[in-house]
Amino acid sequence: MSQQTETTDGAGVAESGNDTLTVTDNRTGQTYEIEITDGTVRAMDFRQIKVSEDDFGLMTYDPAFTNTASCRSAITYIDGDKGILEYRGYPIEQLAEQSTYLEVAYLLIHGELPTSEQLDQWTHDITIHTFVHENVKEFVGGFRHDAHPMGMLLGSVGALSTFYPDANEIKDPDNRMIQTIRLIAKMPTLAAFAYRHTQGQPYVYPDNDLKYPGNFLNMMYKMTELKYEPDPRLERALDILFILHADHEQNCSTNAVRAVGSSQVDPYSATAAGVAALYGPLHGGANEAVLRMLKRIEKKENIRDFMQGVKDGNERLMGFGHRVYKNYDPRAKIIKKATDDVFEVTGVNPLLEIALELEKIALEDDYFVSRKLYPNVDFYSGLIYEALGLPVSMFPVMFAIPRTSGWIAQWLEMVEDKEQKIARPRQIYTGDRTRDYVPLDQRG
Ligand code: SDX
Repeated sequence: MSQQTETTDGAGVAESGNDTLTVTDNRTGQTYEIEITDGTVRAMDFRQIKVSEDDFGLMTYDPAFTNTASCRSAITYIDGDKGILEYRGYPIEQLAEQSTYLEVAYLLIHGELPTSEQLDQWTHDITIHTFVHENVKEFVGGFRHDAHPMGMLLGSVGALSTFYPDANEIKDPDNRMIQTIRLIAKMPTLAAFAYRHTQGQPYVYPDNDLKYPGNFLNMMYKMTELKYEPDPRLERALDILFILHADHEQNCSTNAVRAVGSSQVDPYSATAAGVAALYGPLHGGANEAVLRMLKRIEKKENIRDFMQGVKDGNERLMGFGHRVYKNYDPRAKIIKKATDDVFEVTGVNPLLEIALELEKIALEDDYFVSRKLYPNVDFYSGLIYEALGLPVSMFPVMFAIPRTSGWIAQWLEMVEDKEQKIARPRQIYTGDRTRDYVPLDQRG
């Protein structure tokens, strides 16, 4: 009797004793039984389907892996049609309401909510690892004054691997855990250093009296005051944003971390690959692209023309659409609500009015409804970041800070997964074959 299991899209496996595909190869008339497990079939089971003895056998072809499970994971569950997101089985709505980012990071990595002693130890371990080696200031200082902070973060995270040469001992669980703690602890410090560099301001060291989000605000904004005191409402809003961005199953950047990590490189280099993937405007760079889009629209009366541009294919409605969610991204709902708390402190961001009008029009317009394009996590987050005084270029960095715990949780799961090996896809070769070299003086 097959287990009633669900894949991430919620496809249940029929309660039957016959979970197989019967495949007939019409080229040979041969029939094959392919096992169905957890709503999937193994690509390697198709290799046996050949037309002759020297035939390599069938491969599966899935550009961008739109319908391919790359791993078995117990970390994050998404149901795209129902708009469900759970970390280790806990609904994101409950975690955003009742938890903190550091507690969620522990949950993602260890699989269970911490006891009070475990949370105290975890918080202590993260807090005492927030400093970076003084040399880090040298190379962050070497970037141009107008360098994009995400490019600086990409470089500095990768460079951390040179400060911890033993980090490549990935088979040692204790070594994996200390690197995990260092990465989660130091990401806000590297992010803040990148920001301060762009502002021409001195770096601010971590303040171990402050909580994780408050300490980040301290390293970002402390000036001449002896002690930076974060506004608790802004600190809580940031904590909620960090919770919402912590993990999202096999997204582009997590796939990059797993693929690079599968070569058994150190976790800093694998995390740098995640930062690089997240930098892209179709992924974590979308929150930056949303603000630039809202600023370009500028006034409500320009929205109709802009939306026509989207339909004509000349524009993309950034912050809308998702590979998995074909419903409202549950994170977008929570962030939209969090804007109220932040704007209570900072005043309403005038771009909110344009964002709300864009959403209203998109939710009523068949072009978007037929393509199941709803606001995603990036649509409203930028309004909060801007209200917190962050430049648009820092928005993807704000995504990378909390996603580090998700990347690391996925990396740890990959390293411990006996089924995983170095990621090395196949291809369909479309180029020329076996041509003779043409000397230079004979080329046309
Ligand atoms: C994140 O994977 C994750 O989990 C990512 C993430 C995470 O937490 O890690 O959730 C974070 O990256 C959120 C997504 C942020 N990106 C954006 O907001 C950029 C704008 N959105 C897209 O470019 C797009 O929707 C993607 C990249 C998010 C998803 O792209 P898909 O699944 O490859 O879909 P597609 O590009 O094939 O689009 C299907 C159709 C196309 O139209 P047709 O060719 O059928 O006519 O929908 C259209 C697309 O043109 N379309 C859009 C659109 N998104 C898709 N048209 C206008 N505006 C958009 N935003």
